[in-house]
Amino acid sequence: MEIRPAIDADHDAIWNIFHKIIAAGDTYAFNPQMPREEALAYWFRADTHTYVAEENGRGVGTYILRPNQSGPGSHIANAAFMVERDAEGAGVGRRMAEHCLNEARRMGFRAMQFNFVVSTNVREIHLWKQLGFKIVGTLPGAFRHPEKGYVDVYVMYRSLLS
Ligand SMILES: CC(C)(COP(=O)(O)OP(=O)(O)OC[C@H]1O[C@@H](n2cnc3c(N)ncnc32)[C@H](O)[C@@H]1OP(=O)(O)O)[C@@H](O)C(=O)NCCC(=O)NCCS
Repeated sequence: MEIRPAIDADHDAIWNIFHKIIAAGDTYAFNPQMPREEALAYWFRADTHTYVAEENGRGVGTYILRPNQSGPGSHIANAAFMVERDAEGAGVGRRMAEHCLNEARRMGFRAMQFNFVVSTNVREIHLWKQLGFKIVGTLPGAFRHPEKGYVDVYVMYRSLLS
C-alpha cells in the first residue's frame, strides 16, 4: 500500500469513499447529503494536507491533516480519516494514522487533537488509544446517531513531543 499526497486526479476516488461514509451518518457530523463540490472543498481546504492510500492503483483510504485552530492555536494538529467501506478492518486506518503522526511531527506540530470522536465508533477509539491518544473530554449527547440516538462525543489528544 502506498500513502501519498492527493492530487486533483484523486477527486473521484476520494468522493467515492467520502460519500458512502457521510451517507451512513454514524461517524461524522456532516450533512449526509453534502454535495460533491462542498465535500471536496472541505477535504482540500487551503490550510489542509490531503493524502490518499492506494492499493494496486485503487484508492482505499484518505486522510487530512491541518492546524486545529488558526493563529496562536495553530501548533496543534487536527486530522480526519476515511477508509473505503469494503477495505475496513484490514489495517488501512492504522497505516494512515501512523503516517499522519509522522507527517505532523515532520511539520512541527506539538500535539494532535480530535475534536469529535463519536463514542460508538469503537474501531476508531481503539486505534487512537493504541496510538497514545487519551480522552480529555466528553460532550454529553453531542451526536445524533441514526440507530442509537443521542450518544456522547469524545475529545482525544496526544502530545507529539515525546
Ligand atoms: C475508523 C477507520 C478510519 C479505521 O480504519 P480501518 O482501516 O477500518 O482500521 P484498521 O483495520 O486499521 O483497524 C484499526 C484497529 O481497530 C481494531 N478494530 C477493528 N474492528 C474493531 C471493532 N469492531 N472493535 C474494536 N476494535 C476494532 C483493529 O483490530 C485495529 O487494531 P489492532 O491494530 O490493534 O488490531 C475506518 O473504519 C473508517 O473510515 N470508518 C468510517 C469513518 C470514520 O469513522 N473515520 C474516523 C473519524 S476521524
